[in-house]
Amino acid sequence: MSRGKLRLGVNIDHVATVRNARGGDTPDPVRAARIAQEAGADGITAHLREDRRHITDPDIDGLMEALTIPLNFEMAATAEMQAIALRHKPHAVCIVPEKREERTTEGGLEVAREENQLAHFIAPLREAGCRVSIFIAADRRQIEAAQRIGAQVIELHTGAYCDAHAEGDFSTRDTELEKLREMAAFADSLGLEVHAGHGLTYETVQPIAAFPEVVELNIGHFLIGEAIFRGLSPAIAEMRRLMDEARA
Ligand code: PXP
Repeated sequence: MSRGKLRLGVNIDHVATVRNARGGDTPDPVRAARIAQEAGADGITAHLREDRRHITDPDIDGLMEALTIPLNFEMAATAEMQAIALRHKPHAVCIVPEKREERTTEGGLEVAREENQLAHFIAPLREAGCRVSIFIAADRRQIEAAQRIGAQVIELHTGAYCDAHAEGDFSTRDTELEKLREMAAFADSLGLEVHAGHGLTYETVQPIAAFPEVVELNIGHFLIGEAIFRGLSPAIAEMRRLMDEARA
């Protein structure tokens, strides 16, 4: 079933990464979020990590205050993050695995192994009115577990597909793409809303955007990098154009 216009969530974490490299106030991720909003982003994504390596608590305060489009608050399943989410009640929370030593979110969440714990963890977030999304690999077991714990949304990790493309390993890329296609349809058949993201670029976005079950893409690192060369608004506008073209 086609869901119409595909939403673009712009992840502004790496504006904060650049700011934090110098420890001052610029560039400001809230300003970037405002520009993204004006450039046609349908939502803003920000990941408050345990070590606050990019987004900080005041950034979340600022985003909640400034945005008229939804905030997708990415967080690990910890008591500290749950308390912050319950205080802000963002439109959506996306539960992601988090390791201190990783550079970025390397894999999906192990939902199947921690089902009871996660079900308890997300219940108050749902009760507070947040849409709960779970970031997982394109794996049937994880999708079934996400549904059982009461998540409304899953976000499929596109990192393996994008990495294989970047490495020129097109056979693996196509296998990963096929897995994503099948699992997007499977999750949709269970009544889950399907999002996707991680590592997407102008070169890799279209095959994912073409999946009719996917209703939202969350894209950050590439867009913030591209903004250095063409500016944030044009970088987002080009991604939007490619998504719409693939959807049509
Ligand atoms: N979706 C989720 C759940 C993520 O953790 C991230 C990275 O923070 C993204 C999307 C965006 O990935 P990228 O920055 O590689 O576009």
